[in-house]
Amino acid sequence: MTNKSAAGQDSFSERMIKILNYGALNLALAIGYRTGLLDAMDLLELPQTAESISQETGLNPRYIEEWLAVMVTGEIVELSRTPEGENLYYLPQHCGDLITRRAGNANLGVYTQEMPLLTVSAMEAVIRGFKTGAGVAYDNYPKFQEFMSQLADAKHVQILIDRFLPAVDDGRLVGRMQAGIRVCDLGCAEGVALMLMAKAFPRSRFVGIDISNDAIAKAQRETRRQQIHNLDFMVRDAAFLPDSLELKESFEYVTAFDAIHDQTRPLDVLRGIYHMLVPNGLFSMVDIAARSKLADNLDHSMAPFLYTVSLMHCMPVGLVDGGAGLGMMWGRETAVEMLTEAGFQKIQVLEMPDDPFNFHFFCRK
Ligand SMILES: C[S@@+](CC[C@H](N)C(=O)[O-])C[C@H]1O[C@@H](n2cnc3c(N)ncnc32)[C@H](O)[C@@H]1O
Repeated sequence: MTNKSAAGQDSFSERMIKILNYGALNLALAIGYRTGLLDAMDLLELPQTAESISQETGLNPRYIEEWLAVMVTGEIVELSRTPEGENLYYLPQHCGDLITRRAGNANLGVYTQEMPLLTVSAMEAVIRGFKTGAGVAYDNYPKFQEFMSQLADAKHVQILIDRFLPAVDDGRLVGRMQAGIRVCDLGCAEGVALMLMAKAFPRSRFVGIDISNDAIAKAQRETRRQQIHNLDFMVRDAAFLPDSLELKESFEYVTAFDAIHDQTRPLDVLRGIYHMLVPNGLFSMVDIAARSKLADNLDHSMAPFLYTVSLMHCMPVGLVDGGAGLGMMWGRETAVEMLTEAGFQKIQVLEMPDDPFNFHFFCRK
């Protein structure tokens, strides 16, 4: 072995140890987030014993103690001792600012759920996929879907009405929505974005389309509960929209939030959106901010994380029934190519307010 390769092996072995430790820390953080331990510790003004954290949270002290050992050795929680030698634990504020529910938009703690949930949902199916090439159906991911919906809810509530829509078409769209237009959200899931828009723009009419019966049933129940009268839903496979005569040129504005890259037939879906828009109609596709070539994503600070989410979810759900399996990191170049192929000629790729993870592909028919 040359000196150079020995040195390379040393530094890679150090990196591997870090990778194993960080993977383990992610899991323990996810447990701390789910159980509310991180939030509870964030509220403590002084270092506390495991026993008093147990009393505060109602959780078992032995489990807490073992969890705290991960947090302390992972340099997240600070360790000190009472004069009697008992361990005291303290979560510094600068950590709480990023990993608790109070952190709002800066909350990175919530994302620690993602890998454990994907592992539980699909690790075996994805490993089988390596041998068979088969996709993995959405039904495998109920917990992950629920988690993603919560994430999207939080994002839509904070950004959609106050920041995103006012910027669309240089501010012109909002006036038209106030006056009254027809708007469709494609892949609307449980309709969170639509309910917010329908309430904010009572003179406009809104339609949500999704393939999931369960999601649409939930959306309809919630719409009735909130007594929103300008919002309807349809269960449809968006790949067949180009065949739908009744939806031809029916909407002035269509949105698709995080709903195109995991389609099995994304080009047909985009053609369907083009078909549903009136001439000069507008389409906002919000999708992951990445480039299409792997080599162009090397400096993306979260590339391994995002490619792993894609490997475990977006790509396999997109491969079902011989689907395209684009994956989450299909990137702006492929997205623009596909939008062009679907018929759109005016396409702008814009940054999203307060959302470095996504681009706004703004298109005009
Ligand atoms: C990642 S979720 C995004 C949900 C929502 N737009 C949001 O912002 O949270 C993608 C949605 O697309 C829906 N979907 C997938 N394939 C579809 C298809 N062929 N036709 C209609 N909806 C589809 C799924 O059921 C799911 O609700």
